[in-house]
Amino acid sequence: MHEKRVTIAELREEDLPFLISLWHTAEVMRYADEFPRLRGWSKSDDLRTAWDKYQENRAALGREYTQLILRLVDGTRVGESFFVPLPERYTFGKWKKPGHIEVLMGDIKLKPEYWRKGLGTEGMQQVVRWLFGNTNCSMLVVPPHRKNPAAQRVYEKVGFELYREMRSWRNHKVMELSRQRYDAIHYEHDGLR
Ligand SMILES: CC(C)(COP(=O)(O)OP(=O)(O)OC[C@H]1O[C@@H](n2cnc3c(N)ncnc32)[C@H](O)[C@@H]1OP(=O)(O)O)[C@@H](O)C(=O)NCCC(=O)NCCS
Repeated sequence: MHEKRVTIAELREEDLPFLISLWHTAEVMRYADEFPRLRGWSKSDDLRTAWDKYQENRAALGREYTQLILRLVDGTRVGESFFVPLPERYTFGKWKKPGHIEVLMGDIKLKPEYWRKGLGTEGMQQVVRWLFGNTNCSMLVVPPHRKNPAAQRVYEKVGFELYREMRSWRNHKVMELSRQRYDAIHYEHDGLR
């Protein structure tokens, strides 16, 4: 197995300037829309307001409302991943949230200087493990832009499957990873965990 290069941890207040600057990087945001009402504070440049809103949402939605920071092992911040529980009857184009199970939707973003080194894949592997290990979700969903093959490939490499009933909605595809599939993959390839 390769040596670990990335670590993940839940958001701390001191990470906010990094996040805000990441979200102001045009290349990063090019294909990474934020779907309405998901995070709720990323457009706030005022750090106090952003932190208060994060805490409010976290108190209301619990551990499933997850903002993770990705770092290199030397501590350098390189990216983030955010997942949020979807409400019942949530739809994304033709895709509908399956009823009565916890489904989290989110994504991963890295600073451009860290792209194409395998760090996105490694980071996403850890994010997925964290989510299935620390929340009660039964499924993860990601909405990569149809012109964002890097994102699609990262998600595919960690086990997500394309939802094929719909080509795209507002230019975004949907990819799913159920807990059952995740467990099956990791049972077959013991050692990936
Ligand atoms: C998506 C993102 C996280 C990918 O991270 P990364 O560290 O560059 O990805 P990796 O180096 O792990 O590459 C994973 C795979 O994607 C492929 N890939 C990377 N960049 C690619 C590109 N521009 N075009 C096609 N394939 C690409 C790699 O070749 C690799 O596949 P392989 O193992 O089959 O060769 C990064 O590009 C990013 O932060 N983009 C901006 C934010 C964003 O769009 N996030 C997704 C929102 S849904």
